[in-house]
Amino acid sequence: MAKKLTLHIEADLCDFDELSIVEQSLVLEAQQAVTQAYAPYSNFYVGAAVLLADDTVVKGSNQENAAYPSGLCAERVAIFSAGANHPRKEVKMVAIAARPKDAADYVMASSCGNCRQAMMEYESKQDKPIQLLFVCPSNEILKTTVGDLLPFGFDSKSLKG
Ligand code: THU
Repeated sequence: MAKKLTLHIEADLCDFDELSIVEQSLVLEAQQAVTQAYAPYSNFYVGAAVLLADDTVVKGSNQENAAYPSGLCAERVAIFSAGANHPRKEVKMVAIAARPKDAADYVMASSCGNCRQAMMEYESKQDKPIQLLFVCPSNEILKTTVGDLLPFGFDSKSLKG
């Protein structure tokens, strides 16, 4: 007989002002990273800021390419840069902001599947949730974790059976 599985995932939607100072400054870093995006093909600018255990912040932005699939999303530019340059530091939090060219406000860029998977690797490696802060329109922030964003995710435990 089939068993119904009910998953519980959590996210909070709050105002920027309700964030802690640390969270607020990471959001500002992500918004700054938006201005460094290289997105001449989509005109969709994304910035990500990764906060590490020792408070180092590593930023990334989407980097596009004339050969479209060779480009990379902001989240992976940032998290891979953090992994490459600070291999032993835990990842506490990632803030993500996005804005189409000439838009007055931010739009929520709910990370693509590849970025969720890439971030999950680091969450699984450190066995501690990575907090995510998504900038939404009107200065609202969606707070969740990588695990909540990627239920039924595949990680190293899956390989062991
Ligand atoms: N993009 C990101 O950088 N992050 C996301 O969460 C969604 C999409 C980028 C990829 C591409 O450069 C552009 O946004 C349009 O898809």
